[in-house]
Amino acid sequence: MYRSHSCGELNASHINTEVTLAGWVQKSRDKGFMIWVDLRDRYGITQLIFDEERTPKEMMEKAKSLGREFVIQVTGTVIERESKNQNMATGVIEVLVSKLEILNKAKLPPFTIENETDGGEDIRMKYRYLDIRRNPVKDSLIFRHKVAMEVRKYLSDQAFIEVETPYLIKSTPEGARDFVVPSRMNEGQFYALPQSPQTFKQLLMVGGMDKYFQIVKCFRDEDLRADRQPEFTQIDCEMAFVEQEDILTIFEGLTRHLLKEIHNLEVAKFPRMLFDDAMRLYGNDKPDIRFGMEFGELNAVTQHKDFGVFNSAELVVGIAVPGGNAYTRKEIDKLIDWVKRPQVGALGMIYCRVNEDGTFKSSVDKFYDQEDLAKWAATTGAKAGDLICVLSGETNKVRAQMSALRMELAERLGLRDPKVFAPLWVIDFPLLELDEETGNYHAMHHPFTSPKPGQMELLETDPGAVKANAYDLVLNGNEIGGGSIRIHDKQIQATMLKHLGFSEEEAKAQFGFLMDAFEYGAPPHGGLAFGLDRLVAILGGQETIRDFIAFPKNNSGRDVMIDAPAALDNEQLKELNIQLAVQK
Ligand code: AMO
Repeated sequence: MYRSHSCGELNASHINTEVTLAGWVQKSRDKGFMIWVDLRDRYGITQLIFDEERTPKEMMEKAKSLGREFVIQVTGTVIERESKNQNMATGVIEVLVSKLEILNKAKLPPFTIENETDGGEDIRMKYRYLDIRRNPVKDSLIFRHKVAMEVRKYLSDQAFIEVETPYLIKSTPEGARDFVVPSRMNEGQFYALPQSPQTFKQLLMVGGMDKYFQIVKCFRDEDLRADRQPEFTQIDCEMAFVEQEDILTIFEGLTRHLLKEIHNLEVAKFPRMLFDDAMRLYGNDKPDIRFGMEFGELNAVTQHKDFGVFNSAELVVGIAVPGGNAYTRKEIDKLIDWVKRPQVGALGMIYCRVNEDGTFKSSVDKFYDQEDLAKWAATTGAKAGDLICVLSGETNKVRAQMSALRMELAERLGLRDPKVFAPLWVIDFPLLELDEETGNYHAMHHPFTSPKPGQMELLETDPGAVKANAYDLVLNGNEIGGGSIRIHDKQIQATMLKHLGFSEEEAKAQFGFLMDAFEYGAPPHGGLAFGLDRLVAILGGQETIRDFIAFPKNNSGRDVMIDAPAALDNEQLKELNIQLAVQK
């Protein structure tokens, strides 16, 4: 038996008990005649004591030789500590060691294994197994486990069945590039790793499974960000014989269950917002509604004077910054520089102070009088003491810029409290999205999404205006999940693919299996997928998903610990019939 107890469970009730513990040496303090060692395992830290009077000389020497992160096993008696640490669960006791075994030595770790470490990101990624010993990382992984268990519990109780779907498949269009795997047995052919199990879960509905879920890895070759990894995990779900309302109800229930179990929070019915309203009021399809600062469209109250910048703009939009009149001229100039950074891309910013006495002072007083500015305030909801920030230009661009400014200001004003949870359904997404570069439409969600009833005809005349039976769950300004009611009719699916630019042959080659299945009694169905990594991170009060993934990739998509991706040797390439181009 390696251990009778963990390093986190001993307390005053164990005094005088003989125990055996095993773990890592967190640190040791050697006073010469007395040595204290902090022994750590997953569950906590227990202080060990060796002293000249009670410990044999030989063991004293051995104890002196212990270095940080040595793996040891000790047997000893639990005794009361002289100087107690009331902040620690095990702080009133220590273990007087009678037997010490060094199970494994350790090299000095390249960074300190403490809550606050001196190790930078890169070194911690390279030695991720050491980073996992630190409480913040360990706790994040345990937190993730807890969330995943609650998800399984809830869905299982709702009669969902977890079914595994294959990883070696064929391209699934979710908007990213595929990771591909060469097939040795089928020369010149490749599998694609799933961007999601989308088509398989639909086939499971045709197969009569009725309620499916899977906590599943998905693979997408796309540019990485704080909330994106090339391999990530979805809580993927599908249901048959449902309408949008059924799906929103079930998954609102799941989210509510998680908030209750994880944070003991009761949340009211989630608000729902039309995609068009989200764009108009927040410039964004995943608005953070923990705070206001909604957009006020100012065209009508700005485009009647001689200010050319506004007159020529498609959209003039403002937000009221609470208390923003306190900003100095210099601070406002800095804010203007901020919106002009290439990442935001605004050409400039007009502002208007709302003074405590209710008068206005704007950067365009030459063009607008107090009466005009009062209308700006009324439209943006600005009150005395606020600052109105105004951007103008092309609608889509200005909305994105203003959305970035709104989030930045909210962050600075401390309005994005990670302990507050504001879920929101965004519904009625457009079915199609225009690709500015190619001029083609592509599916905004995916090609299996059904248009809203009665909108099929619009596809011919005004494709951009067609709304989809698609919805996203947004939590604190993050897209946590998305889904749709699917097409289950072969003909409609074929028409949809045609509109997306697939020739009949291409459609058949890529999705023939799904359309064939639709001919054998496909039930009406729909579903959604949550991003588990994102959900866990947000519930954990953070936005970087990497911290909640045991072995994440860095921003270049590399695993620096195992050094992947890596070149293959010639033998393996030959076996796979792959010839690498020597020259670009
Ligand atoms: P979608 O593409 O919206 O839908 O993905 C669902 C959710 O997965 C998360 N997500 C990611 N998380 C981390 N890294 C990534 N690279 C990444 N990409 C997506 C997001 C997102 O909301 N098959 C459909 C679902 C359906 O229609 O049922 C799908 O995959 O939180």
